[in-house]
Formats: sequence, C-alpha cells, structure tokens
Amino acid sequence: MSSMIRDPSLAPSGWRKLRWVEARMPVLAYLRPRIRREGWLRGRRVAICLHLEAKTAHLARILQEAGAEVAICGSNPLSTQDDVAAALAETGVRVYAWHGADTAQYREFIRRTVEFGPELVIDDGGDLVNVLHNERADLADGVLGGSEETTTGVQRLRAMAAEGALRFPMIAANDSRAKYLFDNRYGTGQSVWDGIMRSTNLVVAGKTVVVIGYGWCGKGVALRARGLGARVVVCEVDPVAANEALLDGCEVMPSLKAAEVGDIFITVTGCRDALAAPHFERMKDGALLANAGHFDVEINKHDLRRLAQEVEQVRPHVEAYRLAGGRTLYLLAEGRLVNLAAGDGHPAEIMDMSFGVQVLALRYLVEHARKLPRDVIRLPGEVDEAVCRMRLEALGIAIDTLTPEQQAYLSSWQEGT
Ligand code: ADE
Repeated sequence: MSSMIRDPSLAPSGWRKLRWVEARMPVLAYLRPRIRREGWLRGRRVAICLHLEAKTAHLARILQEAGAEVAICGSNPLSTQDDVAAALAETGVRVYAWHGADTAQYREFIRRTVEFGPELVIDDGGDLVNVLHNERADLADGVLGGSEETTTGVQRLRAMAAEGALRFPMIAANDSRAKYLFDNRYGTGQSVWDGIMRSTNLVVAGKTVVVIGYGWCGKGVALRARGLGARVVVCEVDPVAANEALLDGCEVMPSLKAAEVGDIFITVTGCRDALAAPHFERMKDGALLANAGHFDVEINKHDLRRLAQEVEQVRPHVEAYRLAGGRTLYLLAEGRLVNLAAGDGHPAEIMDMSFGVQVLALRYLVEHARKLPRDVIRLPGEVDEAVCRMRLEALGIAIDTLTPEQQAYLSSWQEGT
C-alpha cells in the first residue's frame, strides 16, 4: 500500500528540515551505522505513531536504512508537517499522515500503518496500541512488543495492564531518565514557549504565567517562564509537587484563584478539564490559553464555545473567544499541543536523546521480547547511561570514574564514623 500524504511536491522543503536536524542529533548519528552493522532490525516490520516532524522522520529513516520495513502515521492531527511527510515518503518508508486530518482520517491513518502486521511498534500517546487492541486485535499476537514515548501513553498502558488487557509487552521509554529528565523538562520547557511566542509575538516578562500541573513537563515550562521574567503561579493536586513548586520559587494556589490573576495559562496535567467554565468566567480580558498535554481535553473547548458569543481566528494558531460582557480569551493551537501545533516540537538535541532511548528500546525488545511479560516495562538503567555517554562523547565532555576504592566504599556498609 503506497503512502497517503498531502502533497509530494513539498518534499524539497522537507529534505531541508531533515538535513538540519540530522546534523544536530549525535546520538542517532552514533547508533545509525551500528544498528545497520549489527543487523537486528533487518527484515523487521516496525509501525510508528509519532509526531511527524523532522526529528521523527530522521528516526524512521534510520530504522528503514537498517533494514526494517517501516510504516508511520502522526500522533496528533496538527503536529504532522506535510513537507516532512513528503520527503520521508521518498525514502521507501510508508507514510500515512497529513496536517489537519479530521478524526476519521486520523484513525484511518493508524489502521493503514498497522495493516502490514508490525512486529515492533513505537507509539506516542497510545492511539496505535489502542487500534491494535480494538479495531485490529487480529494483529496483536504478531507484535513482539513496543515502546511508548509519552507520559499520557504510559498512563493508558498501565490502565490496560492493570485490567490484564495488554496483549504484548510495552516499554515505557518515557520513564527512562535519559528521556523524562531532558525531553519532558527541558524539551517541553523550551518548545512550549517557542510555540506561544511564535504564535502571539507578545512579551512574557512581567506577566503572570499560570502553570497547571507540576510534573516534569510543568517544571520545565515554569522554569523557562521564570527565565523569561514572568511571575509564575503553579496549580497542583499533589501536595508533594505543590511543595516542590514552592521551593522552586513559584507561588501555589488553587486554579480557580489563579484564574483571576493569570495572563497566560498553560495546562500540563494529562487530565481533562484543567481549565473549564468556572475558570473562564473568572479570567481577565485578554488571557492566553495554551495546552501542553498530549490530548486536547485539558482546556474544555466545549465550555469555551458555549460561553462565547463569537469566535474569530485573529492570527495563525490564535482564536479569539469573545465572551458576553466584553471579555476576550485567546485559545492557542485549538487547545492541542502548543509546542507541536504552533511550533516544531522539542529541539533536535533533545529528541536525539529520546529517540536514542527508542532505538535501544527496540533492540531490547528484539533481544528479550519472548521472555517479557505482557506488561509495562522500564528499560534497565544502562540504557540511560549509554545514551548520556554517547551525547557527552559527541560534545567532547569527559567525566570522572570511580576508583576501585570508591566503588568498594559505596558497596560496603561497615565503614562509618
Ligand atoms: N517531536 C517528535 N516527537 C515529539 C514529542 N513527543 N514531543 C515534542 N516534540 C516531538
């Protein structure tokens, strides 16, 4: 089955983007010839559901070059870049994605991606695994295992595993330190602000930024907001995370109170209705609303539409909701992931580490899948170390090693005062 993309003639622009990221992803550059030489991907069928922008296309290309048969779809209707999809389709990877797909098209693309019967899958958010358990459950037994990129996807997988519903092992790539410490925190921290600033062209300094959710992604968003000169308010349901936010120098308050003082609201909770009618009713005129969580359920768009007398697109990725009484609230990127829908996603150097983890997760699956339970699995810590060492080496940064005496000390319990 051939690719389904928006416009093949966009490929030259896609190739320029691919070349830009390729030169900035040293971990993948290190792994690229090795996967090929080692041969463990040769002849393997790999289905991928990831945000289809340049870094992802680079990963797909590397897997395909190493001998895998690769099919790919996007993991969000607004994050696919049509020029990148066109370039990737020229490599022999089967691509099923276009920007702005409606829900039916989006699901159809996932079905097409799995119809060749994948042995390995990479998912971001859990939609592909969902299709392999519901609509194409006939293909699930052929899957050796897979790997999940994001917090929300891992959460969904854990719910499946708890019900005994998961039909193949899934590695929580997201839970690797080489992923969440960098991608979730520094990747989201930077790319969310990139998306907000590109789409609004407004100043952040001096504004009150409300970050709802203080997981690793929320921490990154708050950290960079402070760096941009904002006053940062954090809203949390977890008392531990709330204390962390306080000690990181943020103000903490309930979201209904924050609704009255915020200029820019960013949801990063992984949960629905983080902002809904009661919040919108309290917000100041001109407030900006952005979501950085995987699904577009965190800002309740139905409530926003219901309260609005008029909705107007005022800039690319910015819709003005004019409420009764004269206030206007601005929703960015339709409440979808602002960093991918209004930007290019995380920086290349960050996705380099995340996708390094993904490659090593595939290798782990090929080597161990037959012995793995149908559960959510964490990669061994050596994978984090390997990815981080590759990156340090590429940057020319050396670190210390423990002496044998230090190693003995760390593993002993006799020595004290
Ligand atoms: N680019 C590709 N996948 C991404 C992700 N999950 N988050 C941000 N940028 C990305």
